[in-house]
Amino acid sequence: MEEANARAQVRMARIASHMRAPEGNSMVGLEREPTRARGAAPGFKVAVLGAAGGIGQPLSLLMKMHPLVSTLHLYDVFNTPGVVADLSHTNTSAVVRGFLGNDQLGPALTGMDLVIIPAGVPRKPGMTRDDLFNINAGIVRTLIEGCAKHCPRAFINIISNPVNSTVPIAAEVLKLAGVYDPKRLFGVTTLDVVRANTFVAEVIGVDPKTVDVPVLGGHAGITILPILSQVTPQFTFTDKEVAYLTNRIQNGGTEVVEAKAGTGSATLSMAYAAAEFAQSCLRALQGESGIIECAYVASEVTELPFFATKVRIGREGIEEIFPVGPLNHHEREGIEKLKPELRQSIEKGVNFVHNPPPKKS
Ligand code: NAD
Ligand code: LMR
Repeated sequence: MEEANARAQVRMARIASHMRAPEGNSMVGLEREPTRARGAAPGFKVAVLGAAGGIGQPLSLLMKMHPLVSTLHLYDVFNTPGVVADLSHTNTSAVVRGFLGNDQLGPALTGMDLVIIPAGVPRKPGMTRDDLFNINAGIVRTLIEGCAKHCPRAFINIISNPVNSTVPIAAEVLKLAGVYDPKRLFGVTTLDVVRANTFVAEVIGVDPKTVDVPVLGGHAGITILPILSQVTPQFTFTDKEVAYLTNRIQNGGTEVVEAKAGTGSATLSMAYAAAEFAQSCLRALQGESGIIECAYVASEVTELPFFATKVRIGREGIEEIFPVGPLNHHEREGIEKLKPELRQSIEKGVNFVHNPPPKKS
């Protein structure tokens, strides 16, 4: 009888934890009567920061459905209770908990294996990604300070733009906190690869799932460099096709921003891409071998301190950074052209941490 009571209590605590932040940080108005439900299945703990946004919501849904996720923490400064209530009704075994506002950042991050960050403002037509720097740099700095304090060993996936600068910002914040592990910090450039695979598949006339295009450099304009000479399946493009594909891949983000006409940038395709990359991180954490993705990471492949290339991910993070491989003349030129812009974006991020702009009074 005592044993049955104890089991019931454990069950009730699990149910309550769906709706309540741990450490007594209860979410507004979401207390529930105890009912019968399953607790968390084995798996990884994942946090999405910016979870109530255009990317955050569909990404959280994809993570809630993922069999490798046991616990999903959703953090935002706005509307997390609504998103959590909604997602918590889906009958997948991951437990979902919500966290609202800076006071709950610590509990949101404690114990996480993987933190995915799509927090920040998106572009409107006519803006560059760098135009988002003034707002998003500070947001990323605060969130990474939280990661440094509460889950310094977690893999961190940065989506917030400008990725070319926000990843160096994250690295410097982690360094200042004394917990920087370059193997665990990833700028998510998967959407460039997803787009490249889609557009190339259209030109070749095959299933996009069978296509693999390495995309190197960074994640803005000409710093996005598809390496069409290394496409799988092998294919020889005409000069006209190369020009069309390179332009479309480099400007895929702008294509969506313009089509959305001021209501935001890519959200659904980004959520898909982020979930693909997160899945690779989780499979690597699980010990699976041969996990290879393109990502924007600390690198010595070029003279720049950050560069997107293919990387092999394992249980402890990045295990190998692949060289750019054989390039044709056009691609070699593309790499040289992108370096000054990428260098500037990296330096801008590093300076932001070490010489922050004075706060407006
Ligand atoms: P959105 O405005 O719809 O959502 C952003 C969310 O971030 C909002 O819910 C907002 O409340 C939240 N937020 C703001 N400040 C926060 C803070 N301090 N802490 C936690 N959450 C905070 O924007 P979106 O469309 O989801 O895009 C988010 C970011 O992702 C943008 O910077 C966008 O440029 C970028 N993005 C990157 C890629 C990529 O390939 N890496 C692709 C698409 C979009
Ligand atoms: C994208 O590539 O879609 C994102 O970086 C969002 C944007 O501003 O283009």
